[in-house]
This record gives sequence, C-alpha cells and structure tokens, in this order.
Amino acid sequence: MLERTFCMIKPDALARGLKDQILGRIKEDGFNIIKEKELKMGRTDAQKLYAVHQGKSFYAGLVNFITSGPAYLMALEREDAVLELRKLMGATDPRQAAPGTLRSDFKEDNIFNSEGIMKNVIHGSDSVENAKYEISIFF
Ligand code: RTP
Ligand code: MG
Repeated sequence: MLERTFCMIKPDALARGLKDQILGRIKEDGFNIIKEKELKMGRTDAQKLYAVHQGKSFYAGLVNFITSGPAYLMALEREDAVLELRKLMGATDPRQAAPGTLRSDFKEDNIFNSEGIMKNVIHGSDSVENAKYEISIFF
C-alpha cells in the first residue's frame, strides 16, 4: 500500500555532514519526499516525539540528544513506507545492523554519546499510526 512515514536524520548525522549522502540513499530506495525541513527541535516537540519512552532510563538523555542540534525532518511516501524505511535503517544498535543499512554503513567507532545514548543516524516511524502522529507534530 502507498503509505507515508516520518523520517528524521538525527543531529549526530547532520553534525557529521551526512545529510546529502543519506538523502541520496533514501531517494534511491524509491521514497518521495513530501515534506521536509531542518529544525533544532524544542523540548516540547521532543517530548511529544518520544512520549512512548517516558519513564525509561534513557528518556532524559534521549530528549537532550535530539534537541542538541539541528535535525532534518521529512514525511516520506512509497509502497509500504513504514516497513521499507525500517529495513533501510537497520537495527537500533548500529553494531547489530546488517551491512548495507544506513545505521551500519554510517556507524561511528564510539556509538554512545556522553549521556550513554546510542547515536544511530536516523529515525523512522515504527507503525502507520505512529507515522501519522509524528508527521502531525512537525508538519
Ligand atoms: P528510533 O525510534 O530513533 O527510530 O529508533 P528505534 O525505534 O530503532 O529505537 P527505540 O527503541 O525507539 O529507541 C529510540 C532511540 O533511543 C536511543 N536509545 N538509546 N542507550 C540505549 O540503550 C538506548 N536505547 C535507545 C536510540 O537513539 C534509539 O534510536
Ligand atoms: Mg522508535
């Protein structure tokens, strides 16, 4: 089914100058960029985006990390967009991500920041329902 998903090139990747390379990989994989903007997220938006992780040990660090610098936010469209973007991203932990996925191909030697948050380059929604919610926060 033709679907939309929310995608974010995270602050670690933007700071490393990887935006254009990652955008190229996303387009090559058949995604159309419907909406896009660069944004240094405020804490309120970050708390909305990561509401599902509230109460977890990494929640505070995650909000700090995602608001630490500009991120590149997109609404993407293609067949089975949610699943296909998750496949292109690879596993949450870049050390476990399969070669050829973005999280593997762009992994750093030290994947943890100073607060112990995993730097993994990219976010993609994990369901169609969450995609709608996440797109509505930013667009
Ligand atoms: P995302 O939401 O960012 O697309 O990643 P995901 O679904 O693969 O992973 P999720 O479980 O939703 O975790 C959200 C983000 O929190 C950071 N994290 N760090 N240090 C840790 O153990 C840890 N666990 C999660 C990662 O940046 C992860 O992408
Ligand atoms: Mg997630």
